[in-house]
Amino acid sequence: MRAIRFVSVFVSLFLPTFAGVPNISSRGYVAPGVPQNNTGNSQNAESFKYLAVTLPDPARLHEKSYWFNAIPLIQTTAVAEGWTLLPGSDCTNGGKYFGVRYLPKSAPSIAALYDSKGVIAGFQILYKVDALTKGSSEADCDTLNKFQNNYTFSDQRMINKETIGGTQYFVLTAYFVNPKQICSSNRSPSRVKTDGFGNQLSFQNGPTPSTLILAPATRKLAAAQSWTNNQCLPLNGYHNFFKSNEWDSKNCTENRPDWLFYNKDQRLSGFGFSLPGCDGSPRFQHPPGEIVQYVSGSKCAKTVSDTIKFSNMNVYFVPPISTLHDCPELESKIPENIDQILKELVG
Ligand SMILES: *[C@@H]1O[C@H](CO)[C@@H](O)[C@H](O)[C@H]1NC(C)=O
Ligand SMILES: *[C@@H]1O[C@H](CO)[C@@H](O)[C@H](O)[C@H]1NC(C)=O
Ligand SMILES: *[C@@H]1O[C@H](CO)[C@@H](O)[C@H](O)[C@H]1NC(C)=O
Ligand SMILES: *[C@@H]1O[C@H](CO)[C@@H](O)[C@H](O)[C@H]1NC(C)=O
Repeated sequence: MRAIRFVSVFVSLFLPTFAGVPNISSRGYVAPGVPQNNTGNSQNAESFKYLAVTLPDPARLHEKSYWFNAIPLIQTTAVAEGWTLLPGSDCTNGGKYFGVRYLPKSAPSIAALYDSKGVIAGFQILYKVDALTKGSSEADCDTLNKFQNNYTFSDQRMINKETIGGTQYFVLTAYFVNPKQICSSNRSPSRVKTDGFGNQLSFQNGPTPSTLILAPATRKLAAAQSWTNNQCLPLNGYHNFFKSNEWDSKNCTENRPDWLFYNKDQRLSGFGFSLPGCDGSPRFQHPPGEIVQYVSGSKCAKTVSDTIKFSNMNVYFVPPISTLHDCPELESKIPENIDQILKELVG
């Protein structure tokens, strides 16, 4: 029953997206990093060699679905691609975040954090406070003044509030290396392609980088640390939300904003942030209630999705396409010709 419903959701949610897939090969698509043998420190993931988030494409028509694109791994590439320094940012940002902050050219709902040598070291998501708390009339949202958002934004340690260019934002921050090393880096931008840009994902959990939540390198460790083993979706992988089994008892007002992606080998392959409310930036996904309930097992998550909506962003350490086959138990549900479909569209 579940599986049948899943197929229809998969087809309706994901297949149309491929109609809007840009030519990734012309924008620096690289093969997934060769997995390294990592029997040593179990907190460290395999080296991250790729970073992708939802398209920044302001030309994406609202009826077109989402796709993902690479984030520049070194500062000089970012500058060449038109990213700009967030006014006033330096490596320590007054102690609030570590890494020089750059905003992309369009739809700046994200910031990339570069270390003192110009290698990517972290990533931020910037949510418009008004859009989340009051709703938005933007095309993907249509929630303005329609619902009451009961989420306890101010009680969430992971959320920092900041005014940028006169607009208030909720800021969520992830680091790919130990933040202590970011502003005295000895990394070489020329080695990023071979060495990667980090192997330790953490989330800032307070007003400074001194409080962190470390993302476990394996799904088994994640489950042992209260990230619930949730469902798998092709083109995502296995989801582990933090204590999603407790969401319903709080009516989804206290969900921690992070989640983790694990691949078919149960190894960390990405993460995401999710807050209740609708930010209309084209970078955010607002998944339908049915799929959110399927993935998380939470009833209130369906209600939120179908009223105030969630604003989600998936972040991948591998080319998103390579997560298509990360759910062995659903392999038979994937249309047989999907590789061909993807190949034709993605190149
Ligand atoms: C994608 O880009 C490559 C390199 O620029 C080009 O050779 C190829 O024809 C493009 N494919 C499509 C489908 O546009
Ligand atoms: C990893 O390396 C260890 C020690 O060299 C070896 O015993 C083990 O079989 C390797 N594991 C994998 C999955 O290759
Ligand atoms: C927020 O709480 C109020 C009062 O309990 C309730 O009526 C409303 O439906 C809730 N909003 C959402 C989106 O669940
Ligand atoms: C929980 O959410 C539901 C659906 O929006 C609402 O009807 C109910 O009043 C909420 N309960 C509380 C305690 O806020």
